Order: sequence, then C-alpha cells, then structure tokens
Amino acid sequence: MSNKLVVEALKKVLADSQALYLKTQNYHWNVEGPHFKSLHQLFEEQYTDLAEAVDEIAELIRALGEKAPGSWKAYDTIRTIEDGDEEATAVNMVKDLAEAQSSIQNTLQQALKAAQNVDNEVVIGVLVDRMSVHSKNKWMLNSSQ
Ligand SMILES: [Fe+2]
Repeated sequence: MSNKLVVEALKKVLADSQALYLKTQNYHWNVEGPHFKSLHQLFEEQYTDLAEAVDEIAELIRALGEKAPGSWKAYDTIRTIEDGDEEATAVNMVKDLAEAQSSIQNTLQQALKAAQNVDNEVVIGVLVDRMSVHSKNKWMLNSSQ
C-alpha cells in the first residue's frame, strides 16, 4: 500500500469541500424568508470554515508529492456534491445542505480508510477533524427548522 490511494481519496475530499463551499455561499447570498438573518449567518460560518479546510486539504496533497487539483473542470469529474439552486426555498436550502453534509461525510470516511491502511497519522488527524465539523454542521442544519 502506498499513499497513492490516500492522494486519490483526498482529491475527492477537496472536490466535495469546494462544491460544498460554493453551495453554502450560494445559499448565504440567496436565502430569503423569516429566518433570513440566522440562516445567512449560519451559512457564513460554515463556508468560512470550508475556505480554510480546502487550503489545508490541498496542501496535504502537495505534501504527499502530487499536484492539488484547482479547477472546476477537475472537481466536476470527482465531486459527489451537486451545485445549489439559487431559487430554492429556505427550507429546501437547509435540507440540501444537510444532505450534502452526509455526502461529504461518506467521502471523508473513504479517505480515512485509505489513510488508516497506510498508517498516515497526519492525514488521519485532519480527516477526523473534518468529520467532526461536518457532523456538527449537519446537526445545526437539521436543528434549524
Ligand atoms: Fe456575506
């Protein structure tokens, strides 16, 4: 076993993190309704965290000796999280984001297995931290309505 599979899995985590970043920012901009202010703020907290996370994940890939994908074209082939819908209702935005948290949890779980197979403790540490953030995000989203 080499870190090759870890890098491939981390690229998927990066792609899903970028996709979730943009979806969350989309909804931060476009959410409407009586809960505007709290949702606008919750979404901002979540995309701000993701902005730092994508940098950390990309740099893990570089530290393992490979180029980090940095284009939507590259992400489109490996992401599992679809684009958001600017016209969605607030309820559906929250639901879509909560589902996307589950999607990225699956992607993280696969990457964690790859990292555990080669005992890469640095990658394991980052992935476990990300899993904890997305678990908390899902709880907050599901509790928002
Ligand atoms: Fe803003």
